Amino acid sequence: MHCDLLISDKGPEIYLNDQRLLVPDLVIPRIGSSVTEYGTAVVHHFEQMKIPVLNSSRGILDSRDKYKCLQILSKNGIPVPASYYSYDLNYAHKIVNSKLGYPFILKVLEGTQGKGVYLVHDEIEAEKLFNHFYRKSIRILLQEFISEFSGKDIRVIVVGNKIVASMMRVAEEGNFRANIHQGGKGENITLSEKEKDIAIRSCQILGLKFAGVDILRSVNGPMVLEVNSSPGLEGIETTTKVSIGTEVFNEALKMIE
Ligand SMILES: Nc1ncnc2c1ncn2[C@@H]1O[C@H](COP(=O)(O)OP(=O)(O)O)[C@@H](O)[C@H]1O
Ligand SMILES: [Mg+2]
Repeated sequence: MHCDLLISDKGPEIYLNDQRLLVPDLVIPRIGSSVTEYGTAVVHHFEQMKIPVLNSSRGILDSRDKYKCLQILSKNGIPVPASYYSYDLNYAHKIVNSKLGYPFILKVLEGTQGKGVYLVHDEIEAEKLFNHFYRKSIRILLQEFISEFSGKDIRVIVVGNKIVASMMRVAEEGNFRANIHQGGKGENITLSEKEKDIAIRSCQILGLKFAGVDILRSVNGPMVLEVNSSPGLEGIETTTKVSIGTEVFNEALKMIE
């Protein structure tokens, strides 16, 4: 966030504290969800400077918007939960009545750490949440609730074309969200071949060489919930004892070998 971008007749340049930044060999983007726009503008600038970037600005943007991410994955044959997105508040109500029923999941499109994810139990709750988000023009999606795996999810870390770590997250008592930031606890897990395949392919489809894929085990098989282009590492490194940082660094070095 301290990088200042400049385009002039000399081409793209980056300044840091008023000083021209030396041209780096490679860039490993770590873009917080609150600064997606500026962060990806910086990554894009590095791309224009022809510097190898581990996760492209396009891949970061495509995965950051939860609905866009599901659109791209689904089109490429990755199983995802049925998910709806509508501009009009009245349609949101109609979709709940005709397609989803209660309870259903409501998600802020750019939420993270479980903060923008709600389990909606009845019409009163739906009305309150719809009014709140539509009034504030905060974009939301509606999704089928995978009840058979409630309170759990699987986090898979993909680096390059391989899985370097995975864990099951188990939510705190009374919470349906398994995020570590919501009090979820990591446990070691063995992935099925299908889970491995969809995790790796999701990252390839989005053009991400380093990402965390969230998967739910539904009665119809594994489904991808989202792909995080700057996944948190502390929880999964503690659970699995894998140094993910080392894996990422080694993968990044391949870009300049
Ligand atoms: N459709 C769903 N059915 C059941 N649980 C869900 C569903 N969607 C999300 N969850 C739970 O909520 C958590 C957060 O959802 P996620 O889409 O990964 O958003 P975030 O970006 O906030 O992590 C998931 O890890 C999972 O435990
Ligand atoms: Mg998640």
